Amino acid sequence: MRVSEGQVTVTVPEQPDAGTGSEVFFNPVQELNRDLTVATLRAYRERTPRVESYLDATAASGIRGVRAAADGWETSLCDVDDEAVALCRSNLDDNDLDGTVHHENANVLMHSEAFDVVDLDPFGTPIPFADAAVQGTKHLLCVTATDTAPLCGAHFESGVRSYGAVPRNTEFHPEMGLRVLLSAMVRTAARYDIAARPVLSHATNHYVRTYLEFDHGAKVANDCIDDLGHIYYCQRCLWRESERGL
Ligand SMILES: C[S@@+](CC[C@H](N)C(=O)[O-])C[C@H]1O[C@@H](n2cnc3c(N)ncnc32)[C@H](O)[C@@H]1O
Repeated sequence: MRVSEGQVTVTVPEQPDAGTGSEVFFNPVQELNRDLTVATLRAYRERTPRVESYLDATAASGIRGVRAAADGWETSLCDVDDEAVALCRSNLDDNDLDGTVHHENANVLMHSEAFDVVDLDPFGTPIPFADAAVQGTKHLLCVTATDTAPLCGAHFESGVRSYGAVPRNTEFHPEMGLRVLLSAMVRTAARYDIAARPVLSHATNHYVRTYLEFDHGAKVANDCIDDLGHIYYCQRCLWRESERGL
């Protein structure tokens, strides 16, 4: 199946359920996510002209990385899946674009090479990639999470296990999910003396997405940790109050 998005046309596999299930290879619903990625990368490069390299760490068809390459990024695409890697290569070629395709575990790649911008868009939770992604990112880490039930507390124990937080199931669940993801990513980066500050975040459909700008140093990482906190909330009377501190 041929799909056009932004400046590119790529081949993606035919999929059952119109590609909208939880483990799909190409998700048409995520076009907005990819549009925002291209726009955010462009704005970030205007502000930080030294950034050049971009890794699409879990590339699938490669559509996100191919769109970044069409926008002038020195692009690398990585996937463990044979079919994905073949599609990444042919989709770059079909659009007359250069790029490096890695057929390996993204955790291995991100532990061995660093990129100005790393994009994590895996199935479900990004947490199994989080430590390696922090190591493999020089400036900007883009993260999608589609496991909204654990993130927003609907699957409480799973959320506690994955994110080391206490996600409560409230009526403001998109914001709850986003903040739980942010907290986990900030704490992961702080372990390596890195401050990870969100420059753009959104909760859209059944996923949350954040763009984290990195600043290196123990002091700035401490400052980021100091910005984390809790919310106290009464679902009966809607009273709420936030408190800083882990
Ligand atoms: C949700 S899809 C990616 C969608 C894609 N970013 C897009 O915008 O269309 C997740 C991809 O991650 C790949 N993947 C899973 N585990 C991986 C790993 N350890 N290293 C690299 N890729 C992995 C899967 O093969 C799959 O192609």
